[in-house]
Amino acid sequence: MRGRHSVAADQGEHVRRRVRLRPLRESDLDAVVALERMGYNHPWPRWWFRRLLRSHCSCWVVEDGRAVVGYGIMQLKSSWAHIMNVCVAPPARRHGVGTRIMRHLLDLARREHATGAWLEVRPGNVQALQLYRRLGFRAIGRRRHYYRDRWGRTDASVMIRRQAGG
Ligand SMILES: CC(C)(COP(=O)(O)OP(=O)(O)OC[C@H]1O[C@@H](n2cnc3c(N)ncnc32)[C@H](O)[C@@H]1OP(=O)(O)O)[C@@H](O)C(=O)NCCC(=O)NCCS
Repeated sequence: MRGRHSVAADQGEHVRRRVRLRPLRESDLDAVVALERMGYNHPWPRWWFRRLLRSHCSCWVVEDGRAVVGYGIMQLKSSWAHIMNVCVAPPARRHGVGTRIMRHLLDLARREHATGAWLEVRPGNVQALQLYRRLGFRAIGRRRHYYRDRWGRTDASVMIRRQAGG
């Protein structure tokens, strides 16, 4: 009988092989908004995604052949890339999808000659912090009252990653 670990590893390989990245389209908005609601206590509304899609932001989804299982949104601002959102469907998590999205966004930023990338993250978001650290991001400070929460507003941790040689 195979152990739990090998089953999980097989599933991970399955997800990795099947997923592909492509630009976000208007017709993906229902799926993206549904994932956003699963990912955050204070999800972005649909109109905001639509606005980002129609702006100069770089908006991507990951699909596994049947459904959208993740998305990433980035904006290039005065030679720095701002990673605005990365989210993966709960069942597809921990199979490298978040890393794949982040690497893709960082590659695009590099091709646009960005000096580096920055992002905000909740200080208690262990998964995201770990993902970003593994990709070479480091915390440089706090942005006060950045997030809404049940009690009012919470600070964000700001992380940056310089491009090699940047
Ligand atoms: C953060 C998020 C995008 C990570 O996506 P993911 O597809 O699970 O990430 P990956 O599988 O590429 O994980 C990469 C690494 O991140 C870390 N990580 C991911 N999930 C973790 C968890 N639950 N606990 C601890 N570390 C975790 C691990 O180091 C992991 O590598 P490993 O699996 O080899 O140990 C996902 O958890 C998510 O969508 N969360 C809700 C939305 C969110 O918080 N987005 C970030 C906003 S700042």
